[in-house]
Amino acid sequence: MSFVRRVVIGDRPERGLARALRAERPDLTVRDLSRDDVGEMDLSWAEAYIGFRPPRGTQLSKYELRWIHSTGAGVDGFLEFGGIPSNAKLTRTDGAFGLRIAEYCVARALAELQDLTRCERAQRARRWEFFTPRELAGCKIGVIGTGRIGSEVARRFAAFGCSLVGVSRSGAATAPFERVATFARAGEALRGADFVIAALPLTAETRGLIDATLLRALTGAYFLNVGRGATCDEAALVEVLREGVLRGAALDVFAEEPLPRSSPFWELPTVAITPHLSARTADHEIVASFLRALADFERGEASPLEVDPQRGY
Ligand code: GLV
Repeated sequence: MSFVRRVVIGDRPERGLARALRAERPDLTVRDLSRDDVGEMDLSWAEAYIGFRPPRGTQLSKYELRWIHSTGAGVDGFLEFGGIPSNAKLTRTDGAFGLRIAEYCVARALAELQDLTRCERAQRARRWEFFTPRELAGCKIGVIGTGRIGSEVARRFAAFGCSLVGVSRSGAATAPFERVATFARAGEALRGADFVIAALPLTAETRGLIDATLLRALTGAYFLNVGRGATCDEAALVEVLREGVLRGAALDVFAEEPLPRSSPFWELPTVAITPHLSARTADHEIVASFLRALADFERGEASPLEVDPQRGY
């Protein structure tokens, strides 16, 4: 017995998610729309919604959806905009996010230590400009958020011979971190870190967690945000970057995306901006996760892909 039959996708139809779903489950009726084209009629008709966020300006809690599946690892987009129907299941996509984000962070760290921007500039100007790149081996790396993604990031840096310090809600010890501190002790634990990587989901507890006080405790560090922009006080971040408290930053996520053209981040010479691409989701991962959760629900079981809406991850 199918858990749901009528599914609306509010994503990018060119991804072919609907085609893949229909091929695997011909019993499903799938409406394949872009997020902006999903209307009231579709949501009233559907039993399940698949997307990264609710359709723009829509409160999903008004509809009788049984299930909402996020095309990403994060579900904050659903919990933020009016929430989800009280009895609906909320699931996320599982995939190689940790690996992709880790590679992004390693690339950014090496680019900064090897000053690739300077090399590029010198080459374009036909200048033989010698300098001494620094090594990643021996660097202290702080990771805020020691879940699956943060731990994968840490493992990759550990392979370069870095020392790893984690910060998490519980402060529970977990490999490969040499030490894990609670959020309350973040400043002290991260002091002296060469790189600090924020890999937090956005929840009521993590919103603005990386505040001015914590940022000022990171003197001399290079900051990377690969979690969610709103976990960091962005105004304070701009300030510490302007003042040179931080060596620089690589920012892949922002409180408002796309990052508005008026954002001061664009102007900061020590900031590298990327458009939320460090953990892009592969289409097959979305389909596989949806089908896996569907099979779990059809067996009457809880799915490991379910998210606790209260906790937010
Ligand atoms: C991306 O940020 C995701 O949540 O998958």
